[in-house]
Amino acid sequence: MKYQLKVIIASTRPGRKGPLIAHWFLDILKQHSDFEVEVLDLKEINLPFLDEPEHPRLQNYKHGHTKKWSGIINSADSFIFITPEYNFGYPATLKNALDYLFHEWQEKPVGFVSYGGVSAGTRAVQAIKQTVTTLGMVPLMQAVNIPFFTQLINEDGVFEGNANLEKSARSMLKQLLRWTKALKEMRGKRE
Ligand SMILES: Cc1cc2nc3c(=O)[nH]c(=O)nc-3n(C[C@H](O)[C@H](O)[C@H](O)COP(=O)(O)O)c2cc1C
Repeated sequence: MKYQLKVIIASTRPGRKGPLIAHWFLDILKQHSDFEVEVLDLKEINLPFLDEPEHPRLQNYKHGHTKKWSGIINSADSFIFITPEYNFGYPATLKNALDYLFHEWQEKPVGFVSYGGVSAGTRAVQAIKQTVTTLGMVPLMQAVNIPFFTQLINEDGVFEGNANLEKSARSMLKQLLRWTKALKEMRGKRE
């Protein structure tokens, strides 16, 4: 049985580098037959700023875009967030996408691929953890944190991760699979 893994690309600005990092990571994911992967590019998904009148806990959604987003996230077993660091935090687009829903995120694991300068996006990841745990998600400790990521973008504009980054990716995916299995079983036992 394959687990449904959603890879969320958080940045949406023109000229963003997120898709380059995603491309590299998705290549590694291809070697993991346990997951059926769907990429959720927040630029394409194009959610407006949260415009639902009621708290997402009630799931009384008014808008088609929310119902669609709810269906996509509900079908997931686990997540990878590919995120930059903006002003020591994480992009507002990702916060907005998280805030839209509540139950749909619950009891699902999330791994992080972050990129930035000296911090490698780690401050963004630490900030995300506060929100995802509030949503009942399980953030992984194992992560891919890419420092000075622009140095790994070649002349053709392709991001080339080095052996250390690949190793981090594999160890994160190994752990993600363990949590995905455990939490899926746990969700199945909900009363
Ligand atoms: C609004 C803004 C704030 C940024 N703040 C940080 C930061 O706090 N730490 C960091 O390492 N890089 C920071 N950067 C540089 C980003 O690492 C770099 O622009 C990266 O390409 C952003 O990801 P994106 O291209 O996918 O949007 C910032 C960039 C922007 C646009």
